[in-house]
Amino acid sequence: MKQLFDQKDSYSTFSEQFLRLSEDRFRLLVATVKNYAIFMMDTNGLILTWNEGAKKLKGYDDNEIIGKHFSVFYSEEERKNGKPEKELVEAVKNGQVEDEGWRIKKNGEKFWANVIITRMNDEKGNLIGFSKVTRDLTQSKIEEEKLRSAYKELKDAVEEKTADLAAALVARDEFLMIASHELKTPITSLKLRMQIGLRNLRPDVEKMPTKEELVKFYTQSLEQVESLVKLVDDLLEVSRLQSGQFSLVKQDINLSELIHSVFQRFSEDKKLKLKITPGVIVHADSYRMDQVISNLLSNAIKHAPLSEIEVELNVSPDHKRAFFSVKDSGPGIEKDMQDKIFQRFGRLGSYTHIGGMGLGLYMVKKIVEGHSGEITLMSASGQGATFIVSLPVKEFHL
Ligand SMILES: Nc1ncnc2c1ncn2[C@@H]1O[C@H](COP(=O)(O)OP(=O)(O)OP(=O)(O)O)[C@@H](O)[C@H]1O
Ligand SMILES: [Mg+2]
Repeated sequence: MKQLFDQKDSYSTFSEQFLRLSEDRFRLLVATVKNYAIFMMDTNGLILTWNEGAKKLKGYDDNEIIGKHFSVFYSEEERKNGKPEKELVEAVKNGQVEDEGWRIKKNGEKFWANVIITRMNDEKGNLIGFSKVTRDLTQSKIEEEKLRSAYKELKDAVEEKTADLAAALVARDEFLMIASHELKTPITSLKLRMQIGLRNLRPDVEKMPTKEELVKFYTQSLEQVESLVKLVDDLLEVSRLQSGQFSLVKQDINLSELIHSVFQRFSEDKKLKLKITPGVIVHADSYRMDQVISNLLSNAIKHAPLSEIEVELNVSPDHKRAFFSVKDSGPGIEKDMQDKIFQRFGRLGSYTHIGGMGLGLYMVKKIVEGHSGEITLMSASGQGATFIVSLPVKEFHL
């Protein structure tokens, strides 16, 4: 084996040889390192050396890059902002500067780089240039970005769900308040009626109620019970609609006649205007269609009590669609509340003197959609409301 150093050499010759040898080895090491771009620059940032790693990472051959300014690796914007020069100034000042950012390859591709620029001094401490070590961190940057965006997605989803839950809790509390109020009203008056009735039947009361008075008493009590039954039915109906357990028994029905009969039921209490195109046959569940017509009519009567109400049924010129509308000239509904009223418990204001649980239009919309139909509302605050239900026509007999 070749001796590294001659025994006769003085200590200084030995250390010089050792230094030269290790410098050669170090140069060789740097030149062949493949995963790091390592090169030297002069005091102005002009490239003096180029290693394998630099070639691999940045794509330039030695002869293409040596003598060029290292700012070629920076984006145009960073060059304009003087970033390369600023980094050199910082390295001069602090001995070293470390940075991460996008850098540009010869083919224009970007890569995420970790860069360390180190000031190089001579024995007297004077600046003689810089070394620059660059690592490609694109892959870990991509992973980091993926992780960051997955985290953001998760965070957004959690926030959205939390907001939904909070809104659901508010809606539930509001519903409980409305439902208990609505149920309590008929129960209270029923209880009062029963108490009075019972008092009138006590043995110490001289005059017993007449048969007519008893009939009136039972009729009015029954009305209270019926309104209670309707409230409970609506609640059950809504939970069925909500859970998807709602079935439609469809057959060909004469919509013109159905509207007419519901209309007659309502016009006993209120004067309504009617304009119906006869002979419109739709394939529908007649019980549910009755609910749609009744709800829209009772809404107009209830929410626009002083207004004239117009009910119409028309067909499109191609006879493919029927349009059933209920129009009033009451208080109307503000534009930004118009979606809300079709939701469950979607009353305008949490409590009004007008009764109602805010379930009617929710049911109407679900039923209409179950018939491939649509419900639209034309209204503005103070300008009345027109609800229009459009349904596919099965047959039309003029
Ligand atoms: N014709 C109308 N004019 C003005 N506001 C209306 C009209 N129809 C409905 N609204 C508003 O829309 C809300 C929702 O109506 P919806 O029929 O769903 O509930 P409700 O009538 O209050 O109660 P329910 O129908 O459950 O007895 C009503 O509370 C009311 O504020
Ligand atoms: Mg209603």
